[in-house]
Amino acid sequence: MSIGMEVNPIAVFGAGGFGMEVAMLIEQINAVAPIWRMEGFFDDGLPQGTQVNGWPVLGGLEALNGWATSLAVVFALGMPAVKRAVIRKVRNPRLSFPVLVHPTVIRGNPAHLSIGEGTILCAGVIVTTNIAIGRHVIVNLACTIGHQVVIGDYCAFMPGCNVSGEVTVGEGSFWGTGAKAINGKRIGAHTKIGAGAVAITDIPDQATAVGVPARVLLPR
Ligand SMILES: CC(C)(COP(=O)(O)OP(=O)(O)OC[C@H]1O[C@@H](n2cnc3c(N)ncnc32)[C@H](O)[C@@H]1OP(=O)(O)O)[C@@H](O)C(=O)NCCC(=O)NCCS
Repeated sequence: MSIGMEVNPIAVFGAGGFGMEVAMLIEQINAVAPIWRMEGFFDDGLPQGTQVNGWPVLGGLEALNGWATSLAVVFALGMPAVKRAVIRKVRNPRLSFPVLVHPTVIRGNPAHLSIGEGTILCAGVIVTTNIAIGRHVIVNLACTIGHQVVIGDYCAFMPGCNVSGEVTVGEGSFWGTGAKAINGKRIGAHTKIGAGAVAITDIPDQATAVGVPARVLLPR
């Protein structure tokens, strides 16, 4: 480590498969510049002290809210509604929510990008220019986000999604692996876009849309 460089404690909320990948992402950021010290995971589904890939589970939400020192936290929870519900219960003023960007991400000029706290850009993502991404968004492996896209808080894009230029995505939208939207469409809040779907029309709030072209599923 170079002299004077600060190493900040960080933890991942969610010790499932995506949590393991976020821990890997942190290691890969550190391989370029050692800025994080991984303390462990928080997860309400595993006993405290459980080892996950060599890091301890430090407790659940209660332990996070009781954490006594400064700590950066990222939420590795795939489903937006679950993530939002957890984050709304976080009360600890010692916590901060960094943006994590894998070293392989290609991004436009930061002057033309806004990325909210807690958002994670995974390996191979491309984010071009004049884009606003909300808070606690997951952009998983090899997604592309085009010009003038606006993405609401808590959204999750699974690997290989393509968001074309001028698309607007409402809060809490979940996109399955390889989902796409053509330019200029509005994908509503709390929607689910199925794996492999191609949205060529606007998709209303709350809807689930699947297929090519994407069709909204009727409630059962
Ligand atoms: C779209 C999705 C969220 C719907 O889940 P669901 O509400 O549980 O829906 P169901 O599984 O009950 O399927 C409902 C109907 O949609 C169809 N369907 C579901 N997902 C589909 C998809 N991706 N493409 C085409 N059709 C799909 C089902 O075949 C079913 O059709 P039927 O009514 O004719 O039998 C889910 O299927 C999906 O694609 N999730 C993405 C998961 C993913 O990519 N994970 C990545 C982890 S890294």
